[in-house]
Amino acid sequence: MGLGGVEDPEAAHRRHRGIAMSPSGEVPGTPAPFDPRRYHESVTGDRTEVARHPPVCLYLEVTNRCNLLCTTCPRTYEELEPPADMSWDLFVSIVDQVPDLARAVLHGVGEPMLVANLPQMVRYLKERSVYVLFNTNGTVLSERNGRALIDAGLDELRVSLDASNRESFKAIRGRDYFGRIIRNVRAFRELQQREGLTRPQVSVWLTGLRETVEELPAFVKVAAEIGVKEVYLQRLVFFAESAIGKARPDQALFERLTQEEAAVVVDVFHGQWPRPAVLYRAVFAAWL
Ligand SMILES: C[S@@+](CC[C@H](N)C(=O)[O-])C[C@H]1O[C@@H](n2cnc3c(N)ncnc32)[C@H](O)[C@@H]1O
Ligand code: SF4
Repeated sequence: MGLGGVEDPEAAHRRHRGIAMSPSGEVPGTPAPFDPRRYHESVTGDRTEVARHPPVCLYLEVTNRCNLLCTTCPRTYEELEPPADMSWDLFVSIVDQVPDLARAVLHGVGEPMLVANLPQMVRYLKERSVYVLFNTNGTVLSERNGRALIDAGLDELRVSLDASNRESFKAIRGRDYFGRIIRNVRAFRELQQREGLTRPQVSVWLTGLRETVEELPAFVKVAAEIGVKEVYLQRLVFFAESAIGKARPDQALFERLTQEEAAVVVDVFHGQWPRPAVLYRAVFAAWL
């Protein structure tokens, strides 16, 4: 899973609801049992050297520039390439090579909302009936660029917040922007509610760290207070041999939750806190 990936929501639902499923995720009557936590491993046997179908999904790193210094992010610790935005010509030439494109994710490692022609990119994709989304740090979301994204037809706006309060945000995301992001997202949701707009679907994301897992209930409350109905816990990507910042094994929770940590997650899911409409698909597919 790359930065910002999620689990299969159906698997999450089945697992949580306890619909006749073995611990390995097997549903009676289905041919190939697989562990939903490791769905990616289930396809390796089927892979051929040459893809059988043309691609349907693109991840486009529209910029590698950023204005935060997140302690989980490789970008904070190493400059892999000189800072640059994707040119319009390059964008068009890539998209035009993928005629079956169904879904485009417009972030890599960098902040996509720093790119001036991002709404134009979204519009270009929407004219081709592509589902378009990206993660953003939310720092530069304003009424003007928010409206431009709405007008362009953006489907999903995923705000990576990673903390439930100012102090924790500073420790994880490296800069003192918590209040600003909260104001930006609240104002954007108010605009959507005033105008009865359901697109883009807005969600907030917390990268699962041992340091912040106990903030999950407070995180859900913050989401509810700013009018966001979807909250996601995403899996920390780390490499043991080249750990950087907080992206290191002792911070990882996936398949490593202690009983106390699991209890926090379960409490949130069982609705002791304000309940977003769609709940924790990453958490319940994979974490418990
Ligand atoms: C690299 S960022 C790029 C988009 C944008 N700058 C943002 O922060 O949302 C994409 C996603 O990766 C998350 N992320 C950062 N470091 C991560 C890590 N080590 N493991 C998993 N996700 C991580 C971010 O919180 C964000 O949700
Ligand atoms: S805002 Fe996104 S790209 Fe920028 S440092 Fe944080 S995670 Fe990385």
